[in-house]
Amino acid sequence: MRIAVLGTGSVGRTLASAFARLGHEVTVGTRDVAGTLARTGPDGMGNEPYSAWAQANPEVRLAAFADVAADADLVVNATSGDASLAALRAVGEDGLAGRVVLDVANPLDFSRGFPPTLSVQGTDSLAEQLQRAFPQARVVKALNTMTASVMADPRGLADGQHTVFVCGDDAAAKKTVTGLLAQLGHRDVLDLGDLSTARGAEMLLPLWLRLYAALGTSEFNFKIVR
Ligand SMILES: NC(=O)c1ccc[n+]([C@@H]2O[C@H](COP(=O)([O-])OP(=O)(O)OC[C@H]3O[C@@H](n4cnc5c(N)ncnc54)[C@H](OP(=O)(O)O)[C@@H]3O)[C@@H](O)[C@H]2O)c1
Repeated sequence: MRIAVLGTGSVGRTLASAFARLGHEVTVGTRDVAGTLARTGPDGMGNEPYSAWAQANPEVRLAAFADVAADADLVVNATSGDASLAALRAVGEDGLAGRVVLDVANPLDFSRGFPPTLSVQGTDSLAEQLQRAFPQARVVKALNTMTASVMADPRGLADGQHTVFVCGDDAAAKKTVTGLLAQLGHRDVLDLGDLSTARGAEMLLPLWLRLYAALGTSEFNFKIVR
């Protein structure tokens, strides 16, 4: 598949290299290609400059949001939750129309420090906001409930015996995403239902953040026993 990954942070990079390893044609999207490549210091999360990562991942291309989805079969939204609408606007309606959009973002509000709160919850979700803004996109929420390394390499944790949730209105789009999750090594894909169920997946984040603090590591996941 041709996969456009919106986002140059930990998630964008980790998923991009995992998809490339699986043989997919991957392009990462950013606001300003030259600006992103010119960064020399670590980003806010301590990640090495994008150019250093790109050198180690030469098969992954970099493009501006406006160009990244032109021939993509699937678009991954791995941008900051408070900027996801802006990022998708930069991709543009034409770039998203008819495309599966795998939304891994969380609507985290860091304005009052850590742990962040949710900027949307209860009766709405970020995934639904994106779907309303781009009605022709086929938004599927998944992978937002685990850290990037577990998203991309689930077998590295408890031999992959843990759960990933999938939410969306378009059955074929969910099937495409489920196939991609299986390629990554996810064994327990739990379809929660239509896109409104993304509220539940996003509202797991306050719990995820407390587990992160209590366990002292981000290398864990939810396992739904039934
Ligand atoms: N980190 C994790 O392990 C993890 C786990 C689960 C879910 N998530 C979610 O996944 C998403 C990505 O997380 P991350 O830590 O990889 O990266 P991040 O720092 O949250 O987001 C980085 C991306 O957001 C873009 N961005 C920032 N401000 C923007 C703006 N005003 N307009 C357009 N784009 C903007 C950046 O664009 P540029 O490339 O132009 O700088 C960059 O590509 C987040 O929503 C996060 O909550 C993260």
